[in-house]
Amino acid sequence: MDTVPSDICIRPARMEDAGDLASLCFPEEDAGRVRDYLAFCLHHPHITRLVAEAYGQVVGNIELVRWGDVGEIGGLCVAEAFRRRGVARQLLRAVVELARRQDIRRLELYVSADLPWLIAFYQRMGFEGAEKAWLPLTTGGAEVVRLHMGMSPPCGSGEPDGIWVG
Ligand SMILES: CC(C)(COP(=O)(O)OP(=O)(O)OC[C@H]1O[C@@H](n2cnc3c(N)ncnc32)[C@H](O)[C@@H]1OP(=O)(O)O)[C@@H](O)C(=O)NCCC(=O)NCCS
Repeated sequence: MDTVPSDICIRPARMEDAGDLASLCFPEEDAGRVRDYLAFCLHHPHITRLVAEAYGQVVGNIELVRWGDVGEIGGLCVAEAFRRRGVARQLLRAVVELARRQDIRRLELYVSADLPWLIAFYQRMGFEGAEKAWLPLTTGGAEVVRLHMGMSPPCGSGEPDGIWVG
């Protein structure tokens, strides 16, 4: 397995990322919808999107939605050519740190029940529980596993600037 690309940075998403997100991270989705959803997220006061940038391209994405002191993680995706190199691990670490700085006390996420290795990865990263649920989708629905993580308050204070790892 390769190591994390040396030239990687985790940073907040911006509108200029729409092209790479569509072509590299979500190639099966309609590019216009990827762009519209990015615009929606960037204007939403309770949604933060982080991206992984490597060699000048956006190769990964993750989202944090804040509901009071509960945060929901979603949208984790890494461009196929950059998988198995630790990019998702870095995105997840960054979003957990961001949640801590937003005073979120509990993080939740849903993962497909068909991906036991991904469930195990989240568990290694500190998520607990394995409550099964049925997620209704326009395409019919999917069996998912709900995981959660209790959060302790941050050691320091201030803005999340500087957490973006290089
Ligand atoms: C899931 C996904 C984001 C993982 O991204 P990634 O950058 O390849 O993941 P990492 O390299 O950081 O690996 C994370 C861990 O998962 C393991 N892993 C990654 N891909 C794996 C695979 N296909 N099979 C088994 N284990 C795998 C890694 O070995 C690593 O384990 P470790 O904790 O022992 O180091 C990527 O496969 C993806 O984008 N999949 C499509 C979208 C998706 O399913 N998103 C999940 C939504 S919940």
